[in-house]
Amino acid sequence: METIVEIIDENNIDDKALAVLKKAGDILKNGGLVAFPTETVYGLGGDALNPESSKKIYAAKGRPSDNPLIVHVADMESLKKIVDNIPDAAYKLADVLWPGPLTMIMNKSDAVPYETTGGLNTVAIRMPSNKIAAELIRQAGGYIAAPSANISGRPSPTEAKYCIEDLDGRVEMIIDGGSVGIGLESTIIDLTVDTPMILRPGYVTQKMLEDILGGVSIDKTILSATSGVKPKAPGMKYRHYAPKGELTIVEGKPEAVTAFINEQTGQHSANGEKCGVIATTETFSLYKADVVKCAGGRDDEEEIARNLFRILREFDDENVDCMFSEAFDENGIGQAIMNRLLKAAGHRVIKV
Ligand code: TXA
Ligand code: MG
Repeated sequence: METIVEIIDENNIDDKALAVLKKAGDILKNGGLVAFPTETVYGLGGDALNPESSKKIYAAKGRPSDNPLIVHVADMESLKKIVDNIPDAAYKLADVLWPGPLTMIMNKSDAVPYETTGGLNTVAIRMPSNKIAAELIRQAGGYIAAPSANISGRPSPTEAKYCIEDLDGRVEMIIDGGSVGIGLESTIIDLTVDTPMILRPGYVTQKMLEDILGGVSIDKTILSATSGVKPKAPGMKYRHYAPKGELTIVEGKPEAVTAFINEQTGQHSANGEKCGVIATTETFSLYKADVVKCAGGRDDEEEIARNLFRILREFDDENVDCMFSEAFDENGIGQAIMNRLLKAAGHRVIKV
């Protein structure tokens, strides 16, 4: 299939942009697929209420079909059709955090096909704040199922060029809305259990959720490699973002970390391997590896979040064989950064 690529400026949705979004909405209504920007990462959209569309999403992504999709909506009214008994907590959270980078899990109604929820009786729902996404959802009839718009196993796309890299020829349209603002996927909270539980950390932190709901727990598998315990979000069990080369996270005092990484990359290079390092502004100039990437300043975790997936993709493009990354503090959004890094590294961490 030929993939159409259309550029839209989120801050200037004029008549021309609206015409493109109407066309994209029609593609979705007719069972086709459209990749589009959200504030977190790009999504690979299909009609959430059409089982055939969900099957196409799994096929286009090369994703196991037991891994449920997130349903994207544009207003609270839309929840009534797809949720069985909307919990109070959903209204409380939506009041403050929607539209935005938070996904809530609730009990699904019969309107949502099992193809969309990976066979589960619950449904994950998010109301994105990106204006292109919101208009596209309206044009598509209200419900877009969208996983991140990458081939399964690759980092989520933070720019349209990465969607094109992964999905050209596999979807009807890719909407290029520029670089995303956040760069990591939404926080997921399960509202179907007694104490709401975070299944995936993201830009919305545990503290922000607790300030609204009171007690919030966190799925213990998120930051540890405790084997044998299954994560509650089916998707979290897969080794996501697996770079082509081997990534190791190095934890410790800054001087010890840079010294250890330089020693390691020196050895690997001597063996003819190409080495990469994920550094910070503070340490960037200290590394001697072939490819050194700066994720951002240690005091600006949002910048690090925005850059992480792009850096992992660039290492692949540059055919790096082994990579080392500094560890990051697990406060606030740092928890989401470390969760994604740990997954990319297959939980390989060295303490120095
Ligand atoms: O920021 C985001 O959430 C992006 C953008 C496009 O909105 N989407 C995204 O989707 O990250 P995806 O498919 O890559 O990740 C969805 C995660 C998976 O880990 C999946 O297992 C989990 O959500 N999930 C979906 N429905 C669920 C449910 N009913 N119960 C538990 N986990 C669920
Ligand atoms: Mg994903």
